[in-house]
Amino acid sequence: MNQDTKNDKIIIVDFGSQVTKLIARRIREHKVFSEILTLKDVKKKNVFENVKGIILSGGPASVTKNKLPTIPNELFNLNIPILGICYGLQLITKHFKGKVKSTAKKREFGRVELSKSKNSLLIKGFFKKKKSNVWMSHQDSVYRLPKGFIKIASTKESTMTIIENKKKRIYGIQFHPEVTHTENGNIIFKNFIFNICKVKNLWELKYEKKKIIKEIKNLVNKDKVICALSGGVDSSVVALLMHKAIGKRLKCIMVDTGLMRKNEFKSTYKIFKKKYKLNVKIVNASQIYLKTLKNVSDPEKKRKIIGNLFIKIFEKEAQKFKNVKFLAQGTLYPDIIESRSATGSKTSKIKSHHNVGGLPKDMNLKLIEPLKELFKDEVRVLGNACGLIKSISNRHPFPGPGLAIRIIGKITQEKVKILQEADYIFIEELIKNKLYDKIWQAYAALLPVKTVGVMGDSRTYEYICLLRAVVSEDGMSADYFSFPKNFLDKISNKIVNGVNGINRVVYDITSKPPSTIELE
Ligand code: XMP
Repeated sequence: MNQDTKNDKIIIVDFGSQVTKLIARRIREHKVFSEILTLKDVKKKNVFENVKGIILSGGPASVTKNKLPTIPNELFNLNIPILGICYGLQLITKHFKGKVKSTAKKREFGRVELSKSKNSLLIKGFFKKKKSNVWMSHQDSVYRLPKGFIKIASTKESTMTIIENKKKRIYGIQFHPEVTHTENGNIIFKNFIFNICKVKNLWELKYEKKKIIKEIKNLVNKDKVICALSGGVDSSVVALLMHKAIGKRLKCIMVDTGLMRKNEFKSTYKIFKKKYKLNVKIVNASQIYLKTLKNVSDPEKKRKIIGNLFIKIFEKEAQKFKNVKFLAQGTLYPDIIESRSATGSKTSKIKSHHNVGGLPKDMNLKLIEPLKELFKDEVRVLGNACGLIKSISNRHPFPGPGLAIRIIGKITQEKVKILQEADYIFIEELIKNKLYDKIWQAYAALLPVKTVGVMGDSRTYEYICLLRAVVSEDGMSADYFSFPKNFLDKISNKIVNGVNGINRVVYDITSKPPSTIELE
């Protein structure tokens, strides 16, 4: 564990809500360390050391049923403040002998107006004129207060929306302060952390850097490590941290699939080789990729082929580096949380995301995952602390299969070239117009349809280029980005005039869900 034992922390007990992860993020935004625990973890020894507060998350279960996920009763007697959110509130209610009812008629989904009835430390500064808009997602409601609790706020359909037992420092709220649709949700967390839990020791990411480097040194000792470097934020930060810890005993392999953005791969290679002096090797595999992907249109097939080929090439290169013991990977905290779902249920697979995470176990290498406790935005901060240049640390996410899943249908060298040019124009303009950092992810894609156009006096029959730009917090949901007036006209003009093979540009204005960020 990277966390310093002296740090105060808030733990979140996960009952399986889709947004539990956001609670941890919100707490960390206040520079307080937070960790998500499963119901199994809660039963382990010493998990409550340095814990200043416990949050019980929402979840799909109902306390009105006989079989319900719960926590050991002792947790309520630890004298550590507790905040229950949604299912968490209902669990507190049940434990302290209140009543929860399930009524389809009184369910609330989406934005609801909340009215304040009493003051509380938890809601200091939260309401404006005793009203606030909050985000709800529930069918069960508290209809009789648990013993020792009072009502703080209510909505039309749920009268006990915020409740408290000040003496025991136990609080419950029906709505979700962790989602951005709840106005001032952050204030609830701030009040809980600092006014109720009295957290004092703050958690600063810049101090994390030293700790991680020390841990890597201890773990690797005199051995060697390999790392697949893509030029994305995660693998770049891993490579820099590893390099700082073990120097030339780290070897980075960059597999050029030929499906990357224009110029990006080579420039990243130069930066790591020349500026950061890393031991890095580029493997040019673009022709093998094109050959293997010939005539493949199905997106899942593309992903599989690309993933498997990557493993083969990487393995071959890794074998050339003698006496390697470790493989360093950019696994992030969300990957860890998602792979050990609280309820054990797996959501239906929409896309199989190929990542270096799929490297074969029989390589006999031990894994090092220095970022496994961090969220993406925290990795960017850490990257900055390691001296990573902004153009890499602020880089938009880019999928492992690269342009292969942005060329809809069959992939050819010609299409790759056309798309690289269009994408380059789009991204350069975003940077020039200071829009790049306002967008979570932007790209151009090539549609497999040709349409008629007219250029000069001649008829053209060329591809459609689709532009996508979204705002998001973690890629799980996203909204399309609203560009300033005339921006898209300018891009369309530049692409159609500058790229042979495209005569029409469209902008995707769907959100996720129901759409996804990538087209394939
Ligand atoms: P979707 O399209 O699922 O994308 O809404 C969510 C995020 O995941 C990225 N993505 C991928 N990343 N391999 C990856 O490494 C993949 O196959 C893949 N498919 C989607 C996508 O770019 C977005 O950031």
